[in-house]
Amino acid sequence: MLDFHAHVLPGADHGSDGLKTSLRQMALAEQAGIDVLIATPHFYPQRDDFGRFLWKRKATLAELQENYRGSIRLMAGAEVHMCVGLDHLDGLEELCVPGTRVMLCELPFHSLPAGITETFERLMEDWEIVPVLAHVDRYDPVVIENLFGLGLLGQLNAEPFIHRFRRHRLLPWIDQGRIVALGSDIHGTEIGYTQYRKAVDYLGDRFRTIDARARELIKAAL
Ligand SMILES: [Fe+2]
Repeated sequence: MLDFHAHVLPGADHGSDGLKTSLRQMALAEQAGIDVLIATPHFYPQRDDFGRFLWKRKATLAELQENYRGSIRLMAGAEVHMCVGLDHLDGLEELCVPGTRVMLCELPFHSLPAGITETFERLMEDWEIVPVLAHVDRYDPVVIENLFGLGLLGQLNAEPFIHRFRRHRLLPWIDQGRIVALGSDIHGTEIGYTQYRKAVDYLGDRFRTIDARARELIKAAL
């Protein structure tokens, strides 16, 4: 099972306060059956220094890799907060899953800024980046379906699948091929992978379809 969205790098963001927490997160992932985990620390282009982000991600990934003794294949991408003009950032490909052009993009929660669809289009056309919208379950479905119409793909968090009345509406997006990844979006260790396991059990064959899509999308990294 592939976890496409996880905050497990020690001290890289608020997902883990240090190595002890990160090692516990990795142990929980392994117990749940995860074999590939993409660490996705938050990157806020309007606030964070890009060079410093890359340095910190590299250092925290190395710290975890040096101390983790388990079998999960660990790699680091980013959860990139979308803003207008992101396509002007030099070295943008460093935010993708390593060895691919696949980028996990987080939409602003309240409303989409004017010009954001043009930014997505330039990412896809000029940079040949494949944006994957993070946790599309959290947003207004009308907004998400408009973005799917542009050719964008989506990632679902495990969390909505524990809610009997919320999960049904997500199934058509899976069946229409718009969902290419499931993520734990793990922060800390309290919830761990309990929601992820429940999502896998609920989704059944649909989970296997999503997992296969994720592996196909990032096959250059595997
Ligand atoms: Fe996240």
